Amino acid sequence: MRSLIVIDSFYPNPKAIRQKALNMKFVEPDNLIGWRTTQGYFPDNFVAMLEQKSGLKIVHIRMPEGTPYDNGTYYLAFNSGKKKENPWIHWDAPASHYVCLVYLTENVPVSSGTSFFRHRKTGAEFGPTAKYARHLGISKQTLKNLLDRDGPYRKRFIETDKVGYRFNRALIFPANRLHSASEHFGNDLISGRIFQAFTFKAS
Ligand SMILES: [Fe+2]
Repeated sequence: MRSLIVIDSFYPNPKAIRQKALNMKFVEPDNLIGWRTTQGYFPDNFVAMLEQKSGLKIVHIRMPEGTPYDNGTYYLAFNSGKKKENPWIHWDAPASHYVCLVYLTENVPVSSGTSFFRHRKTGAEFGPTAKYARHLGISKQTLKNLLDRDGPYRKRFIETDKVGYRFNRALIFPANRLHSASEHFGNDLISGRIFQAFTFKAS
């Protein structure tokens, strides 16, 4: 898999794609962190455009089904005000998929992009796999517990890559890479750091 793909000027009409989000409701599902829209949105010809711009051949992508867990859901997190949050270092699933994020807020500082990490204690750069756990001589569950435990603590990781925030920039990376927002930004729907997220499998 490619470790990182960055595509600027991703949508031909980013303001309209952003407006879709502003017209939706943002919710914070129980047991999950951060605000997200109640459903995803796929612009016309999205899959063909993603393939063409990324150079990847998509073999599986889930269409939106009208839930906050959809592909194409918009996310929002703040760095000030009552709903302030600290970014957690985490991985996404399934491991065989890519994640595509599209940044959709203007005037967010470049420092509020996405960072990638290596876990200091284990050297892990990905979520737990049986192979890497074997290499360490521990169980996959123990490796998962260590990464889960340390996720909220930035000092327990070394930043290995950082992509700046730029309006209408897309980035694509393996879902299993350890990552987080570099910093959240803003304190409300208009100023907050909105991005749209997709996962897909590609050959
Ligand atoms: Fe993520």
